[in-house]
Amino acid sequence: MSQAQAIDTKLTCPYQPGADERKSAAAAAASPARAKRLAKGGITIESFSLARKILRSGGTKQAGFMAELVDRATSKGAQPVLFQEGEVHQKQRTATARFFAPRIVTTRYRDVMNDLADRLIARLHKKGKVDLSDLSLDMAVAVAADIIGLADKPLDGMAARLNSFFDQGVARKISVFRKAFNAVRSNLNLLGFYWLDVKPAIDRRRKAPKEDVISHLISQGYNNQEILTECLTYGAAGMVTTREFIVMAAWHLMERDQMRADYLASDEAGQIKMLEEILRLEPIVGALYRRTQKDLTFEESGKTIHIPAGTLIDLDIRAANSDPMAAGECPFQLKPDRADTKGSAVGSMSFGDGNHRCPGATVALQETAIFLNRLLRVPNLRMAKPPKMEWNTLTVGYELRDAIVAVR
Ligand code: HEM
Repeated sequence: MSQAQAIDTKLTCPYQPGADERKSAAAAAASPARAKRLAKGGITIESFSLARKILRSGGTKQAGFMAELVDRATSKGAQPVLFQEGEVHQKQRTATARFFAPRIVTTRYRDVMNDLADRLIARLHKKGKVDLSDLSLDMAVAVAADIIGLADKPLDGMAARLNSFFDQGVARKISVFRKAFNAVRSNLNLLGFYWLDVKPAIDRRRKAPKEDVISHLISQGYNNQEILTECLTYGAAGMVTTREFIVMAAWHLMERDQMRADYLASDEAGQIKMLEEILRLEPIVGALYRRTQKDLTFEESGKTIHIPAGTLIDLDIRAANSDPMAAGECPFQLKPDRADTKGSAVGSMSFGDGNHRCPGATVALQETAIFLNRLLRVPNLRMAKPPKMEWNTLTVGYELRDAIVAVR
């Protein structure tokens, strides 16, 4: 879809005409990161259907999340799942699918999520005022840590170590000295994460394996460094993303009395539908990158499209999610009942598509639903200070900080 069409759709929308309800729209438009990435050539895909065909084609390779840089730097050893392709990748996904099976998510992880959400809400009551992005980080880290196998002992400090390490992707204008300081701090936190969190978990599992990702990787013959890399991949993929989503969803819901009341009156399936609509509108990963491994040809809207081998493709998730063909009418607006009224399935690429589609989608939606179901019931809850938005060049998405919620 062209920019002109996008603008036209916005203006002619009968539902609250002219409004664009995406909180992240301005920050996305202001970020030069994507244009910079394509400066040496490449194409952008905005159509939902074409993006899906490309991601399902099997003819591309991961080119996002610095995959090509990491590939050049590390010639030997097992690649993290996000960077693998072909048979190796398929085997890894099949073997780890059991950690994300719906039965496990709705039973084993549900207990972890309920318990954690209770503790976080108790913290809010005790302090009276907290930064929601701290609560959401603790929630996301603890759930992912359980899946990975990093939750044997209290998680004190692990969230902070990971947070500092992942803080590198944010596009901030800072001095050279500050950059150097941040790089040193980030490396120290990486060392801390390895020695304090990952290494003890590996040692324990070498003696007594459990039902988690680290035990699985040990059984596959991964060495400690490869396991650390995979823990960081899950950390980035599972913790950083979910943390942002919880804050964004809370922000939208706290501003809309009717939607909030409907959310609290719904069962979990209904709540998840609303959350999916928020995530469609405000994807955390704003673009996926792939490089074609061979010439690819697609039939799209009566046209034949050729993409030569070696092409860098920027799959614009924000645009694909707002493609009226996939989202239906008023694609820039938050319509909580979109899934029930569209008449056909709503398309959303917020969890990706094809062989790399997020295995943690059900986990993320369930933990967000559980946490918000408690948070939004807190009497006298208010957003004392709306979140500050920054732009992460690695995820091509937003980061929300200093979201102060208060109860009195
Ligand atoms: C709202 C929260 C989340 C969002 C928006 C999200 C988004 C995504 C996206 C877009 C991808 C595909 C990347 C690509 O195709 O290049 C992905 C992959 C992945 N996600 Fe998630 N994710 C979330 C939560 C989680 C959670 C909770 C976990 C696990 C604890 C997780 C684990 C993974 C893993 C391991 C991959 C790599 C899969 C592969 O390459 O085969 N994610 N995620």
